[in-house]
Amino acid sequence: MNKATRRTVIAGNWKMNMTPSQTKEFIKELAPMVAGKDDCDIVLCVPFVDIAPAVEAAKGTNIKVGAENVHFAKNGAYTGEISAEMLNECGAEYVVIGHSERRQYFGETNETVNQRVKAALEGGLKVILCVGELLAEREQGITEEIVSLQTKIALLDVTAEQLKNVIIAYEPVWAIGTGKTATPEQADEVCGIIRGVIAKLYSAEAAEAFTVQYGGSMNAKNAAELLSKVNVDGGLIGGASLKTADFTVIVDAAQ
Ligand code: PGA
Repeated sequence: MNKATRRTVIAGNWKMNMTPSQTKEFIKELAPMVAGKDDCDIVLCVPFVDIAPAVEAAKGTNIKVGAENVHFAKNGAYTGEISAEMLNECGAEYVVIGHSERRQYFGETNETVNQRVKAALEGGLKVILCVGELLAEREQGITEEIVSLQTKIALLDVTAEQLKNVIIAYEPVWAIGTGKTATPEQADEVCGIIRGVIAKLYSAEAAEAFTVQYGGSMNAKNAAELLSKVNVDGGLIGGASLKTADFTVIVDAAQ
């Protein structure tokens, strides 16, 4: 395994936090703190209404902007939904798909995750695909099966060329927003399992170049150790991405 062949991505997932004006202020404050720190991609995935202000505020900086979800249809009678084309035109570069909160509260399934992944890729977006087991599944010893299945179904009909615009965030559901972090060894193990699935589905080369992040209570204190693991190529960060100082420490840990 050679970590140097992969791009490290540090991405914030703001969830339902921050208004447009707060977004502009946050990025104005963050930009000088992370300027020139180019050993990782720095992404903020923000609520839909914050995308345009975020893109505007991030102009000329090394901060990229993403969305937190996308609908699978190109357009049509889907009241309240947002398409890949809309996100693209607003300047979003990335989109989070299949986050456990979407699966848990909004009926997202592996199948709809797959449809969204394909729509996002066809619409020119980069995908941060989330997979991860529940606590009960870990205790039953089926973590490998669960994340493998989620990964395989999400990537159905995704070509090797399209895969270059996909990264996966391994997010154990029991670690999200709970303050309970997976140990670096647990994170490394499952990120490695996901890489193995990519190798089987595509090729060893594709797997070697593929970015797998860890997410779930990653913070300023534990980021360096998690990111030091050979299979952990970045982080998807919720709570700690809402504070410029904490997020900057995590970016620093990836340098
Ligand atoms: P957390 O969220 O860092 O607040 O645990 C991570 C996520 O949901 O992506």
